[in-house]
Amino acid sequence: MPNTWTLKDKVFIKYIGSEEIQAAVRTLATRINQEMQDKVPVFIVILNGAFIFASDLLKKIKIDCEIAFVKLSSYSGTESTGSLKQVLGLDISLKDRTVIIIEDIVDTGFTLDSFLQQVWEMGPAEIKIAACLLKPDAFKMKFPIDYLCFSIPNEFVVGYGLDYDGLGRNSSDIYQLHIQ
Ligand code: IMP
Repeated sequence: MPNTWTLKDKVFIKYIGSEEIQAAVRTLATRINQEMQDKVPVFIVILNGAFIFASDLLKKIKIDCEIAFVKLSSYSGTESTGSLKQVLGLDISLKDRTVIIIEDIVDTGFTLDSFLQQVWEMGPAEIKIAACLLKPDAFKMKFPIDYLCFSIPNEFVVGYGLDYDGLGRNSSDIYQLHIQ
């Protein structure tokens, strides 16, 4: 892919190349394979953004595991916050299971926080989080990101599953918004 990418009204610059991403994903998979070798975890992939990261990561997971997919949609008509998320598609039992949530990017952490509360209500033995990207300066929550590829500055990024207004998911590199 080229070094700059114009999506609608915005210009993005290549930020993390695919080789660097693949190396980080390999390292993460090795850790998970080691730390989970006596368990049969359930991976929960949060759609849409995590689809490429999850695909790359899960191909490298060599232990027995199950894989589920969820989509989080915003409730309409909540009171003040408007940030509650409804879980669509989580139809397997998580009782006493080790759950590993796969997320593309953790920004404020609000999305994961509300999802985590709902997963805990399903009675898992433990929950771990695997994320490709974290913006530490934007993160407002306390929960740990157990498996992380990259910490990045608080700038908007696209590619590797992440979109800008629906575009940009189809890149194996990650691009950062160019501030002019
Ligand atoms: P949070 O609830 O603030 O942590 O936001 C998480 C969600 O916002 C992610 O799953 C993404 O869908 C989206 N998001 C946050 N930052 C970015 C970004 O830089 N590029 C694209 N999407 C983002």
